[in-house]
Amino acid sequence: MSLSRRELVMLAAALPGFGGLAHAKAPTAAKTPLPFNPAPDDEAAWERIGQEFVITGSHLNTGTYGSCPLPVLEATIQYLRGFERMLTQPHIDGPGLHTQLERFLGAWPGSVAILRNTTEAMSTVAAGLDLAAGDEVVSTTHEHIGGKCCWEMLAARRGVVYRTFAPILDPTREADMAAAWMAQVTPRTRVFSISHVHFTTGLIQPVQALVRMAREHGIITVIDGAHPPGLFEMNLQELDADFYASSPHKWLLAPKGTGLLVVRPDRIGTTWPLVASGNWNSPGTSRFEHVGTMGESVLAGLGAAIAFHQAIGSKAIEERTRSLATRLDAMLREVPGVEVVSPSRPEFRSAMVAFRYAGRSAEAMQGYLNSRMIRTRRISEGGLEYIRLSTHIYNFPRDLDRVVELLREMPAG
Ligand SMILES: Cc1ncc(COP(=O)(O)O)c(C=O)c1O
Repeated sequence: MSLSRRELVMLAAALPGFGGLAHAKAPTAAKTPLPFNPAPDDEAAWERIGQEFVITGSHLNTGTYGSCPLPVLEATIQYLRGFERMLTQPHIDGPGLHTQLERFLGAWPGSVAILRNTTEAMSTVAAGLDLAAGDEVVSTTHEHIGGKCCWEMLAARRGVVYRTFAPILDPTREADMAAAWMAQVTPRTRVFSISHVHFTTGLIQPVQALVRMAREHGIITVIDGAHPPGLFEMNLQELDADFYASSPHKWLLAPKGTGLLVVRPDRIGTTWPLVASGNWNSPGTSRFEHVGTMGESVLAGLGAAIAFHQAIGSKAIEERTRSLATRLDAMLREVPGVEVVSPSRPEFRSAMVAFRYAGRSAEAMQGYLNSRMIRTRRISEGGLEYIRLSTHIYNFPRDLDRVVELLREMPAG
């Protein structure tokens, strides 16, 4: 971790036990308490929340990584410092963390496995189901490598058929999106592998309807839910998918290297673990979690990330992040030459906006914005060439105004 002096000062102020920074002067003004449930346009409240972050410039790429707030950094670093003293190992309340996650996600008791990321969780499912040659896995052409390579490898290794179709990118009705999936079903279809939120454009798939329809056809649902926790309020029991994979290091702002696999209870005991160690044959989700020595400091940070999120309020965070995206979407559509490729209807859009810009490559735009301290994601997978901007609680209307202004000024060619 390389921190600027300003960041070190902020961190030192926030961390009573964070030694080694005795030379850093803490800011004199005491912070007011975190606002709970602020309205989406309560700028003073969001500015206060923004004081919890060490971000330099504008971070508009939460879709790749969220930035941890100070309490999450604190919990993670405290754990590391305690561990490296080597006398005793700091305690992580494993059962407590699992319960905290289950409540946060609305998941069944005992259904959560804590892994390293979505990629590992998706690979666990693909390798852990007993699919045979000719069995079909249906998905879209907009899947992330972390959600599709596990199926591609099964296709290469065992003759499983990985069928992808081009999703509707600007839907008007959920029913049309669901019908596009159902049109792919054959008697050999065993799995729907569905990105809950597409990494390319932020499109939200109608997972609730898809899970219900899939089950009627005996099809297993595997949701690549890398994005939703921390972005939407979740109720995974209500969703009732067979498998839900996620990365809290994105929108939940947890330390990097925290992942989740939520398994419907009836599937836990029959899904093989990816890595075999102690507990590989346990009937609970610990069968998926034993992967040898791990850096456990991230687990301390994960618990702190949930607490931080809940201290502000899930609904408030969702409304703020999505309203910023709606504002950004509207502004971008006004820029001559910009073509927004994210859904035009806010209910399908989440908090990411992707676009092309005539005469400017995505690579050039990313370099141009990056040199002005704005972090973006270039989407170049699958022959696409988009810039994607994510909006989170550490972004402000001024960040959006600035990025749009800079794009207007960017010369073509
Ligand atoms: C939809 C989707 N799936 C999977 C992943 C992979 O996530 P991770 O690198 O945390 O495994 C990403 C990362 O951006 C993603 O956007």
